[in-house]
Amino acid sequence: MSQELRAVEWTGTGLALIDQTVLPHRAETVDVQDVDTLVDAIRRLVVRGAPAIGAAGAYGVAIALLQGEREGWTPDEVRAAVARVRAARPTAVNLMVGVDRVMARFGEGLDAVLEEAAAVQREDVEANRAMAAFGADWLLKRVGEDRPLRILTHCNTGALATAGWGTALGVIRELHARGRLEVVYVDETRPLLQGARLTAWELVQEGIAHYVQADGAAAGTVLRGQVDAAVVGADRIAANGDTANKVGTVGVALACADAGVPFLVAAPTTTVDLATPSGDGIHIELRDEAEVLEWAGTRTAPAASRGHNPAFDVTPGRLVTGLVTERGVLEVSAGELPGEHLR
Ligand code: MRU
Repeated sequence: MSQELRAVEWTGTGLALIDQTVLPHRAETVDVQDVDTLVDAIRRLVVRGAPAIGAAGAYGVAIALLQGEREGWTPDEVRAAVARVRAARPTAVNLMVGVDRVMARFGEGLDAVLEEAAAVQREDVEANRAMAAFGADWLLKRVGEDRPLRILTHCNTGALATAGWGTALGVIRELHARGRLEVVYVDETRPLLQGARLTAWELVQEGIAHYVQADGAAAGTVLRGQVDAAVVGADRIAANGDTANKVGTVGVALACADAGVPFLVAAPTTTVDLATPSGDGIHIELRDEAEVLEWAGTRTAPAASRGHNPAFDVTPGRLVTGLVTERGVLEVSAGELPGEHLR
């Protein structure tokens, strides 16, 4: 790709968000100048992916300050608006981390807030670059250097989901750049198709060979020996290595464990929540049942059916072969727990 994608961009007065609900068919941006628009954009997945919503939340503090200035809010009213941004989605800890980091400089005014938000964004890109190299090194050592790798991934973890470059997709891009990637199996990622719409779109931009497959195909692809490793992202990682990621991830991890295929989680340390001891403490977002009862706005399930629509699941740490962060790789299933190594 000639120019790196920016899912979240500060324009000087607000945020320009690539509208991820209409990709790949339309390239549009949403202009965010107020808190309601930002909260709505995060909830509707206009902006999505843990690090990307972390960056959007960080800049959300500036949006609230500017709106407060225009509309004569008290500092407490600005704080209450920031709290709404922070709570817009519950699972990805990066949103809370991004908001809280910038709020620590709230009292210093707009310039300090913007400086801190820009640092959140810049450091995420740096972390992604570092984890791409660590992840690629680990995979090549673990799986073997004799031939290019076949990698399975779930959801979208690329430039769209981060401040730039990507986490799991960043590792995949690194393998491609080194000439060590054969093909990517992209789970379509029901029900909102982040894999089929967004990951496939990013891979097309990069000229990376890939197959989109139904989520239900993933376990069979792994068990038939068609992939060398699975690489996924994360929304929140507990101290014991339990990892919340897009619903469907745990099935991939189970298949990998059964087949002896490495299952690698790639996430910056901002996704590791050491205050949460295990996955039991991770709040899993339940989304509107219409997302699973309808297809493109048309009802597919019987009118009397109810939908169950958790947006994420938790992969137990015992199934996580490797966790790559910007600091290196922890072999979680072998006992290298984040709570002991990342404090
Ligand atoms: O609901 P989404 O699209 O925000 O879910 C995103 C994921 O689950 C990603 O895998 C995760 O946030 C990591 S993004 C680098």
